Amino acid sequence: MTRLGASFAKLLLRGVLPIAFLALLAWLSHGPAWAWAIAALGCTLLVCVQTRQLAALAAWLDAPASDAFPQAGGAWGEVLGKLAHRLDDEAHQREAVEARLRSFRGAMDAVPDGLVILDAGHRIQWSNRAAAAHLGIRLPRDKEVMIEHLVRTPGFAEYLAGADTQGTFVLQALAARTRVYTIRVVPLGDANKLLVSLDVTDARRVESMRSTFVANVSHELRTPLTVVSGFLEYFTDDGAVDAEQRQQFARLMSDQTARMLTLVDDLLTLSRLEAEDAPASEEDVDMADLMEQLLAEGQSLSDGRHQLAVTCAGPALRGNRKELHSAFGNLVSNAIRYTPAGGAIRIEWAVVDGRGVFSVCDSGVGVAAKHLPRLTERFYRVDRGRSRDTGGTGLGLAIVKHILLRHQATLSIESELGAGSTFSAVFPDWRLPSAGRAVA
Ligand SMILES: Nc1ncnc2c1ncn2[C@@H]1O[C@H](COP(=O)(O)OP(=O)(O)O)[C@@H](O)[C@H]1O
Ligand SMILES: [Mg+2]
Repeated sequence: MTRLGASFAKLLLRGVLPIAFLALLAWLSHGPAWAWAIAALGCTLLVCVQTRQLAALAAWLDAPASDAFPQAGGAWGEVLGKLAHRLDDEAHQREAVEARLRSFRGAMDAVPDGLVILDAGHRIQWSNRAAAAHLGIRLPRDKEVMIEHLVRTPGFAEYLAGADTQGTFVLQALAARTRVYTIRVVPLGDANKLLVSLDVTDARRVESMRSTFVANVSHELRTPLTVVSGFLEYFTDDGAVDAEQRQQFARLMSDQTARMLTLVDDLLTLSRLEAEDAPASEEDVDMADLMEQLLAEGQSLSDGRHQLAVTCAGPALRGNRKELHSAFGNLVSNAIRYTPAGGAIRIEWAVVDGRGVFSVCDSGVGVAAKHLPRLTERFYRVDRGRSRDTGGTGLGLAIVKHILLRHQATLSIESELGAGSTFSAVFPDWRLPSAGRAVA
């Protein structure tokens, strides 16, 4: 039996069979007239009940949300029960689909790249949050707006029209020309397009830093090389220089070669520092010993032209001795090189507010405030000539900054033009394991 047949039989059994049964009983007890009367009455009642149920269902279908779902017993109850069940199922499915859509939208909004769906006429159909930041698209305001009307960068409309899905378009943010995006368009379905925007500002910055760095290094190497090659020309020209000149040239060439070697050494130190996140090993560095060494090196560099004083009032410092030596040595050598003869230089190690402070204070040329934030940049020099003449590479403070960073320390600079400077490296308290003992 088909499903329709079974339902029909069931309804017939519940609705018509009781009437037929009552009519048969009336026939047997009171005769055919009563039987017909009961059958007619039963059928009328049945039609009324069915019509009422139909009316209730029709009313509910007109406004499913506001009215309660119709209730009934018997055959109608069963039908309505099935209908209610199905409607429940559908509601659940709809909720599940909506929840999935919400989480999908959330995921799309979390994507750092801008995504925009365009129809065949380049009208915006949908976009994620990053697209709002990159291209200024706001939904629902901009739905159905042609994207060319929003992104008015010259060349963008031509790029979209070209539909060259291989190429990318470089877009500079219109509001503040500080950010750069690359735009790529890929076909989506039959006629739609998906536009993807990528923030490449940082990559571009790194790229430009790299090329500036290479240009700087080349420039720094070129100068001494030019000097050396100039002198070499004299040497190849026999008889052009006498023995005394020859010796003088050789000395100058050796100075330039030493300069190149220092530069290459500093470059190697920087690249090694950048390659590893943390020092290879750490120990409790005996600061009294290190300060002695710094003083001796400082005196040899100063050659008696300055007054050097050392105070070591702090405990041992946890860190990599070689790196700390290099950082502190750089600060001392700067103080000596940027302090005219007769000046005073004080090197100090002390505990201030629980933190370890290594400072080098000089009475030298000082630095104007506007230069201070840039001093630790590679090759940044206030006075290029003076730096070069004293054997500077312009990398010293960049190395210091790197080393301090690896020791969770900060560099603070106080300086007054013409009056002197104090460079201080401030170390966190946990790098002074024996601070309690030493200070007490
Ligand atoms: N103690 C100081 N007094 C004055 N200027 C300083 C001092 N230390 C550093 N500077 C300035 O900071 C610049 C960068 O220093 P650094 O990176 O060590 O390079 P350099 O090789 O020139 O010493 C120097 O060129 C100089 O202008
Ligand atoms: Mg230096």
